[in-house]
Amino acid sequence: MENKYYLGVALPAYMFGRWETFGPVVTENFNSYTCENEMKPEAILVKPEAGGEPSMDFKRSMPAVQRAIEEGVKMRLHTLVWHSQTPRWFFTKDYSDEGELVDRETMLGRMEWYIKGVLGHFCGEYPGLFYAVDVVNEAFDVGDGDENGVRKKNSLWYETIGPDFIYMAFKYARMYAPEYLKLFYNDYSCMYKDDLILQHLSDAKRDGLIDGIGMQSHLSVGEDLDKFFSAARKFLDAGYELQMTELDVGIKEVNDETLAKQGEYYRRLREFADGLAENGENFTSLTVWGVNDATSWRRRESPLLFDAEMKEKPAYRGFMRK
Ligand code: G3I
Repeated sequence: MENKYYLGVALPAYMFGRWETFGPVVTENFNSYTCENEMKPEAILVKPEAGGEPSMDFKRSMPAVQRAIEEGVKMRLHTLVWHSQTPRWFFTKDYSDEGELVDRETMLGRMEWYIKGVLGHFCGEYPGLFYAVDVVNEAFDVGDGDENGVRKKNSLWYETIGPDFIYMAFKYARMYAPEYLKLFYNDYSCMYKDDLILQHLSDAKRDGLIDGIGMQSHLSVGEDLDKFFSAARKFLDAGYELQMTELDVGIKEVNDETLAKQGEYYRRLREFADGLAENGENFTSLTVWGVNDATSWRRRESPLLFDAEMKEKPAYRGFMRK
């Protein structure tokens, strides 16, 4: 089947320096790249000298951008507003690591400045290269959240602005994004909190500020895929564009049986995605979170399509429906 949606892969910067190893597999299989870390706030924000103002530096993302242009593929932009991988100094009065946190109005100003700057850079310098951006990442969590399930723990966005930082981020993103760039909310374990997500995004949706939901899809063999599929359908039924943005499927130990099961999981997920696209559903992208097991953030669970020697695993054959 000719793909009706983007088939993507997350790539850490060093892979672009070892393209002879990783390039062949990447270019043969994928037509969308996500930077694994290099477009996150900690990679872009530059701490000012004492008394100065912060700036942005996009050089860490340059290898990915250049390679995407060279290969003629598109990109997802991950991520603008996230409690993690965003330096504390960005939230303090004097931009120092230990300083006192700023008030809501000041932080809203910084949020707008950041979103405007990042979208302005990537969409201004490279029009059409990006098709989706994760405006807000991982903002809902019952265990680590407030009484309404908005993540509070370790979230300086929440602490400075309050729970409507999510709505405000989408408001600014809509102001500064070109029309073709789709604005996404991205989260893990979506199948366990689908109603919570829908409930909290409803204001932004009503006001036309959000386009889609990204299901990260960090799964493990043994998890209930039917539950995953029904959450996906719920998001589509609620009128959201849908993407799987960070797929990997962990196994507890590596043997022929677990590898085969992992292959089955990848096959079922791919079949589901293909089915959605064939039925004309608004499913637009499926990204695998990394290339091979040895370089995965979950390397102890061997969750990807290729092994350490870049050999195809049963997962690859499942994913490619071979
Ligand atoms: O920045 C330092 C660098 O200065 C240092 O040289 C290097 C040495 O190991 O560490 C670097 O930080 C690492 C960072 O990635 C950037 O490479 C951290 O140790 C490492 O923990 C961090 O992990 C990333 C993780 O996000 C951080 O939360 C993973 O690579 C990345 O795959 C993962 O991606 C997230 C998505 O963004 C959101 N969804 C969950 C997903 C998995 O956690």
